[in-house]
Amino acid sequence: MSALLELRGVARRFGGVAALSDVSFAVPVGAVVGLIGPNGSGKTTLMNVISGVDAPTEGAVLLDGTPVQGLPAHVLARRGIARTFQHIRLIPDLTAAQNVALALHAPSAGAVDILLRLPRLGRIETARHDRSTTLLAKVGIGHHARTPAGDLSYGDRRRVEIARALAAVPRLLLLDEPAAGMTHGERTSLRDLIAGLPALGVTVLLVEHDMDLVMGVCDEIRVLNQGQIIASGAPEAVRADPRVIEAYLGAEDA
Ligand SMILES: Nc1ncnc2c1ncn2[C@@H]1O[C@H](COP(=O)(O)OP(=O)(O)OP(=O)(O)O)[C@@H](O)[C@H]1O
Ligand SMILES: [Mg+2]
Repeated sequence: MSALLELRGVARRFGGVAALSDVSFAVPVGAVVGLIGPNGSGKTTLMNVISGVDAPTEGAVLLDGTPVQGLPAHVLARRGIARTFQHIRLIPDLTAAQNVALALHAPSAGAVDILLRLPRLGRIETARHDRSTTLLAKVGIGHHARTPAGDLSYGDRRRVEIARALAAVPRLLLLDEPAAGMTHGERTSLRDLIAGLPALGVTVLLVEHDMDLVMGVCDEIRVLNQGQIIASGAPEAVRADPRVIEAYLGAEDA
């Protein structure tokens, strides 16, 4: 399989802190790749670098073989990279569907439509609402389309975030701890949702602390520890790797 995403020697320093050092790995087209590691190991920093929220200090990020490091997030979004955030970023006063609609590429009503109250306005808004509701149904909360995001449970807000990321029709979806705050049942449906994404043309890079979810859904796993990749491979091999066990046990001692 060819690589959709490739990292070559990526480093990110914050002053004296090396949050990432010489990170190199590929994410094959159509794969679900897990990125795990103890707290503070650099996972979110790497998501930020890949999505253009941040730029690497050194190294290259290639999308379909083309260097994209340092490009701003909105440009990378147009090239097919979408993400969710570890700390939920929804507009609480808007409904779930309105939050999703913000990320739709479909035409939105322009200023002229609104000023002249053209009939087009109603049709466009109805179409956007329907599309957003379909995406919410895909993540299991279609019935909450008209609920203000701020009134939803934590797990449901996470699902709205995923629906919003899918609204951009990404080729690469970066998920930063999507299961955080979810109940056991919600995690099971999240696993099914993630497992179905490659069939929709979406390649996934998943950051997650829930090992059952990671081991159950990922084709391959990369392990970060103190900003460096310490293990890489199939879930069972990574789980049994002494360096990985050591990194997690070390983190528990700390
Ligand atoms: N903007 C920043 N300025 C300074 N240091 C930062 C910044 N962002 C991250 N760091 C540092 O980089 C390191 C990696 O942080 P990061 O948030 O990427 O870890 P993480 O693996 O996502 O952790 P967690 O599992 O807790 O979410 C930490 O030491 C953190 O303090
Ligand atoms: Mg993080």
